[in-house]
Amino acid sequence: MASLTASATAHPNIAFIKYWGNRDAELRLPSNGSISMNLDSLFTHTRVKFDPGVDEDRLSLNGQEQDGVALQRVSKLLDRVRKMAYLRTFAVVDSENNFPTGAGIASSASAFAALSVAASKAAGLELSESELSRLARTGSGSACRSIPSGFVEWRAAERDRDSFAFSIALPEHWDLVDCIAIISSEHKTTGSSDGHALASSSPVQSMRVADAPRRIDICRKAILERDFDALAQMVEQDCHIMHAVMMTSTPPLLYWQPATLGVMQKVLTWRAEGLAVCYTIDAGANVHVLCPAPLLETVVQMLKQVEGVKQIFAAHPGGAVQIGD
Ligand code: PMV
Repeated sequence: MASLTASATAHPNIAFIKYWGNRDAELRLPSNGSISMNLDSLFTHTRVKFDPGVDEDRLSLNGQEQDGVALQRVSKLLDRVRKMAYLRTFAVVDSENNFPTGAGIASSASAFAALSVAASKAAGLELSESELSRLARTGSGSACRSIPSGFVEWRAAERDRDSFAFSIALPEHWDLVDCIAIISSEHKTTGSSDGHALASSSPVQSMRVADAPRRIDICRKAILERDFDALAQMVEQDCHIMHAVMMTSTPPLLYWQPATLGVMQKVLTWRAEGLAVCYTIDAGANVHVLCPAPLLETVVQMLKQVEGVKQIFAAHPGGAVQIGD
């Protein structure tokens, strides 16, 4: 039997309105909708080969053979693809990130988006964008947002077939930049899969979920109207609400380091002084500082002066996942 091979490249994304908590953990159906921007300069490239010559799935990340949870999560997604394609062959998966591993930049979104596209193509499936987004979602929720282009919305839905992400504006619509201030490159003590499971233990989560449609509407409108002030307020409020849930779950999750707060306070001061900047933080200590592209150099220079900032990566709005090398 001929071996079936394909590859794909996907960008990670930064959420402006965050996904935190699942209504269905197995299918990764989110408790609330979210909005994000793909990050153009960062990417994962993944090659999948369904190979009759191997007797189990194999995964290499940046040239290093993986086992344990990383391999299990990949195998689970491959199982879905095999089921859809009536295929029984195991696969060899080679995945590489262009950003340094361990830099503290989450890669599960780009990883599962690239894997979904490469694996389904290699298996001979012709899936639509929404079908690919749903498949990627089952590997890592936020991965569904790395399938479409630019600025992306993922609607909360009750059923698997309705929960996918779609583009609300293309990258050219608004040249925003995400300046990622790396504060810690250590591995998170609680990864997002475990974190989602804790969300419902916080008394703040029900308020957060109930209020999400309001935050999403304001954020979507701010993007469509290129209204930075409105975006800044909503992005920061949404980030604070998610971290309030994290901090009040049982056990509590406190991802911030002293330097995280240092950057937050600086950004607030700079905005009060008239600079168009705002921040958001995922399940980690690093701070994503957003600004319009013309301010990139100024913001990077200012961030470099902040104590505890080790490294800065900058990314403009990125396109959709791409098939091929
Ligand atoms: O896709 P996951 O399970 O890694 O969850 C992502 C969670 C956050 O990054 C904190 C928020 C988000 O919407 O990306």
